[in-house]
Order: sequence, then structure tokens, then C-alpha cells
Amino acid sequence: MISKAGVNDMRGSLTESDLLISKAYVAGQWTGSDAAPIAVDDPFTLEEFGEIPDLSQAQVQQAVDAAADAFPAWARKLPKERGDILRRWFDLIIANKEDLARLITRENGKHLREARAEVDYGAGFIDFYADEATRSYGEIIPAPVPGRRLMVETEPVGVCAAITPWNFPLAMVARKAAPALAAGCTMVAKPPELTPLTMLALAKLGEEAGIPAGVLSIVTGHAAPIGEVLTKSQVVRKLTFTGSTHVGAMLAEACAPTIKRLSLELGGNAPLLIFDDADLDTAVETAMVAKFRNCGQSCVAANRIYVQNGIRDRFVKAFGTKVSEMKAGDGFDDAMDIGPLIDERAIAKVDEHREDALSNGATLIAGGPSPGGRISVPTLLSDVPANAKLTQEETFGPLAGVVGFDTMEDAVRMANDTPFGLASYVCSSDPATIARVGRDIESGMVGVNTGLISTPLAPFGGVKMSGLGREGSHHGLAEYQNLKYICHAGL
Ligand code: SIN
Repeated sequence: MISKAGVNDMRGSLTESDLLISKAYVAGQWTGSDAAPIAVDDPFTLEEFGEIPDLSQAQVQQAVDAAADAFPAWARKLPKERGDILRRWFDLIIANKEDLARLITRENGKHLREARAEVDYGAGFIDFYADEATRSYGEIIPAPVPGRRLMVETEPVGVCAAITPWNFPLAMVARKAAPALAAGCTMVAKPPELTPLTMLALAKLGEEAGIPAGVLSIVTGHAAPIGEVLTKSQVVRKLTFTGSTHVGAMLAEACAPTIKRLSLELGGNAPLLIFDDADLDTAVETAMVAKFRNCGQSCVAANRIYVQNGIRDRFVKAFGTKVSEMKAGDGFDDAMDIGPLIDERAIAKVDEHREDALSNGATLIAGGPSPGGRISVPTLLSDVPANAKLTQEETFGPLAGVVGFDTMEDAVRMANDTPFGLASYVCSSDPATIARVGRDIESGMVGVNTGLISTPLAPFGGVKMSGLGREGSHHGLAEYQNLKYICHAGL
């Protein structure tokens, strides 16, 4: 069900906000560029409503230089002083939650309800790391010989670069910038071309909160020339990236000559395993959230739903009913459940995966083809062949496919039959099943009887080709710290 009702009257407030910014933020200055600006469109109306400067490489270098200049003073501040600034930033984000959420919906398309949830989720990282740096302790190691003290201290890594994706325009930069700044690092962040405006608004609030000039710069423009400056720089000591495995591998290669530290949060292709003994309502709810959160455009989205054959028909019927009730349309319309997809390529991929599965024997249970624009109708397929594109590649859209299985061994084998290992989900009421799947499944995160696992309090990250490093929790802070071992003799 698609609705275009009530579109234009729900978009007005944002343009009055000073958080709609069309400049980059370099070395504490809001700046344009001589090149033609890059337009930002609304994925539902397709209207171009914003623009960003296409910075030159010299301007990106200026941001790197400013980050290097700002680093010593920022690193020397007490953790509590940095934390106080982060806390003010958090307060300002919460005070401007509605504008930020509208901005997210406007440039990303996701439903306003989800945009509000994203503001809370992203701000949660700033809240958490505002305090966490004060709890970052060193170590004293028992000495192997008399008269010595072996100490381990943490130091900030230095200037960091961040490259973030369009699917969570606020949360992804927040979970990189917050631990970096808390640890005493400075950062040059590049927002995605498709959704850059939220990051600029966040930087504006950061400036108001008192983040000193040069500590956080936002460089807008095209990925390749900006990425070249950031990856080649000797001054940049760490790169953190969220996005595709393909681009992550290219960035890792580009960072190799300067031996940068890397955090890479890459592709997912998450499996959801539903066992015969699962509670049906819990299984359906888990599938709804794990599949349709963020319109299916999430690295942790359940891409493959494996259902044991004893519960399969009941699950497909109940899940199919829910999916057929979902409405896709304008993210500003309360009556909708999900918004549009980000661009035409996203629509084409979902269509390709659906048609591939159907032509290879899958059954359509709910939904169907895109009606036009960037709307993708929530769709459920059953009897999906295990080798369909839908199970092999990340779909990144609201298309769910069910594959049946008989034994736990079959399910775990199929779940692990992928180069990826970010998240996985299991629904069962048997503790032994949960423990065995939790042990044998190859992923960095496992949701048990829940499709929502993301929180600033826990380490988010993957294994295999899903990436390196963790974001969130004290592990996320450590990603921005070097260890220094001091061997003190003559005591
Ligand atoms: C992502 O899709 O990359 C992040 C999802 C999340 O933080 O839950």
C-alpha cells in the first residue's frame, strides 16, 4: 500500500532551522569551495533540497593539518574536561532531536519514528563516551626482576579519519567521533554524498558545545579524492570506515603503506535461524525487526531466514500476514511503516533479488514489485533456494526470504556458508540449542530471541570479511588508544 498523502505540509519546519547547512566545516570554519556544489535530494519527493561543497584536496589537507595542530592540546586535556564537552554536545543533540530527526528523514528517507530512534541511538554513544574516558585505566604488571616497575599506559592514537555510510547518517559518525574525541584523538570525518547534512548539523552542535577548532572537521565532497588525501597522509594515524566490504578492502590497501590502524565495519548478510521450539510470536517479532528495521538497509539486517520445517508453515503464515500489513511510503507520514529506499540502485537490487528467487522456484507470500519512485514494497518469499542471490548477497532492502531446514547442523552450515560474519540471530526456547548455535555460528554478534542488538554499551563488529575492530563499549574506546609500556628500572 503506497500513500503520497500529506507530503508537503510535513516538511516545512526543517528549512527554518539553522541546522540545514550547505558548507563544510574545516579547521573551525564553515567553508565553501570553488567547484560546483553536490545536490542532496529527498528520496521520497526526489526534490533537491540541499547542497554541499565539493572540497578540493587542498581543503581536505587543511582539515588534516588543523587536526594535527589541535591534537596536542586536546590530548592533554583531562578526560573529564573532554567528557564535559561531549556531555554538552549530547545535551544539544537531545534538545534538537526533532530537527535532527527531520533532517535524517529528509535526506535518507527513513521513517521519522526511526529517525528519532536514530538520534537517541547516536546520541547514546556521546553520552556513554563522555564518561568512559574517565574510566580508562592503565596496568601495573608484576616485575620479573627486583627493582623494576612495569607500567602500561594508554595514549590517544592521534589524528583519525572517519568515512561513514548513508544508512545511519547520525549514529555512524557519533559512534566513531565520540570514542575518538573521548580518547583524546582529533578527527576528520567524511560524510556520504547522499546524506551529508545530518553530519554537518551534528558538527554545528559540536561547535556550540565547545569542541575546539580543528578537533572535528567535516570534509564534504566526492569519496575518491577525499579518500586519497586521508589514506595517503602520514599524519592520519587511523582510519575508521563503515560501508561495503569491497570499499573497505580498497581503503585497507590504501592505508597499508602508512601502516594506519583500521576499524572496518563492513558487509553483513546476517542469518536468522528459527527452530521448531521457538515461540511463534517472538520469532515473527524478531524477523520483523531484524529484517525491516531501517527499511532493511542495515549491515545487521537479517538477509537469510532459515526456518525449521516443523514450524515453517505457521511462521510463514504469521510473518506473511504482518508483512502484507506494512505500508511503504513517505517517511514523514504517520500512517506509513517504512520510507523509500535511498536510490534507484537500491530499488534495482531488491527487484533483481526478488525476480532471481522467484524464477528459481520461490513462492511469493506477500508484497511484490516496486510501484515506482524509490518505494520498495515489503515482500516475503518462501521456498527460496539456498543458492539464490537473496541468500548469497546482501539485499539491503525490505525483501525477506525463507529457506527451510531439518537439523541444527544443516542450519548452522548454511548460516556459516558466507564470507561474512557480522550479526546473526537465533530463535529457540531451548537453552542447549541457543548455546550450541551461539558457539558454532561465525559472527561477531548474536541476537537470541531478539532482532535488535545494537546499543552503545556493547561491542559492535564482525569477523571474517565483515571487518576489523569494535565500536561501542570500552572496547570501542580502546580502538582509539595506543598502549605504551614503560619499564622503570632502578627502584
Ligand atoms: C549498520 O548498518 O552499519 C549499523 C547498524 C546498527 O548500528 O545497528
